[in-house]
Amino acid sequence: MRKIILDCDPGHDDAFALLLAGKDQEIDLLGITVVSGNQTLEKTGINTLNLCQYLDIKTPVCLGASRPLIKEEEVCEVIHGDSGLDGFEFPNLKIGFDPRNACDFIIQTLLESKDKITFVTTGPLTNLALAMRIQPKIIDKIKEVIVMGGSIANGNVTPAAEFNIYTDPEAAHIVFKSGAPIKMFGLDVTRKLMVLPEIIERMKKINNSSSKLFVDLMKVFNENQFKVFALPGGPLHDPITIAYLIDPKIATLKKVHCTIDLSHGSSYGRTNIDVFDYQHLPKNIEVAVDVNVDRFWDLIEDAIRK
Ligand code: BDR
Ligand code: CA
Repeated sequence: MRKIILDCDPGHDDAFALLLAGKDQEIDLLGITVVSGNQTLEKTGINTLNLCQYLDIKTPVCLGASRPLIKEEEVCEVIHGDSGLDGFEFPNLKIGFDPRNACDFIIQTLLESKDKITFVTTGPLTNLALAMRIQPKIIDKIKEVIVMGGSIANGNVTPAAEFNIYTDPEAAHIVFKSGAPIKMFGLDVTRKLMVLPEIIERMKKINNSSSKLFVDLMKVFNENQFKVFALPGGPLHDPITIAYLIDPKIATLKKVHCTIDLSHGSSYGRTNIDVFDYQHLPKNIEVAVDVNVDRFWDLIEDAIRK
């Protein structure tokens, strides 16, 4: 079984990364660490607990950073709403947080494990960057970091930058320079994973509690995506990280040189990727350049059925 830690900021699309990770037989979800991003930490934390309780996912949930390392906090209310997960009414919460903060949990779990652990991020990289700075010995214990974030081409918050990297570029810089193996799934592939009306209809037919969650959340997600991007369906960014762990053939990856733009100019937070290797610089990450869209929706459907 593959041991993973999921670091997230739910978030409509984070919810289904969590579903995939929690339901797959081959994934041992050691814990979930939460970061501020799509909404404040207070809200992303409660959303994570609500999702775990509703989906019956039993694993420690630890709160992490409530602010990016240097930038001021900028949440994504236009897409995810005031709660960060608008569109679904969860039952009363009966579970609580693990008392450890995210960094303590990450450091303790990695150092105590005899096997290397996969670290999945679907939010800003603040928690992992902090943990790496507090205890650099954890870097050798990371099998790989699977990141949803960045873009070879355009951004989604600025013309240059994608939300998770833009929200905490300095944290992304620390993680991308750490020497840990990084696999980046950016907007180049996630924009192909659109929740079109027929996808909502397909999942609705499953008619169980998870499909209700999907349908209700995706209706609001799509309305908001339409207002901002005029797209017929929102891109379901985050679950590709876990889908890749379940089936690595789902994506094509390329080794590239990547730096994070820390200039504080108009490209602040951009992932500068030398995809054609013009510069012949050391290749520090693998980036996803293609994805099997049909396989992705099959995996989402399987998880909803479980
Ligand atoms: C990323 O930003 C967030 O709004 C989503 O949850 C996803 O992680 C996409 O840019
Ligand atoms: Ca997210």
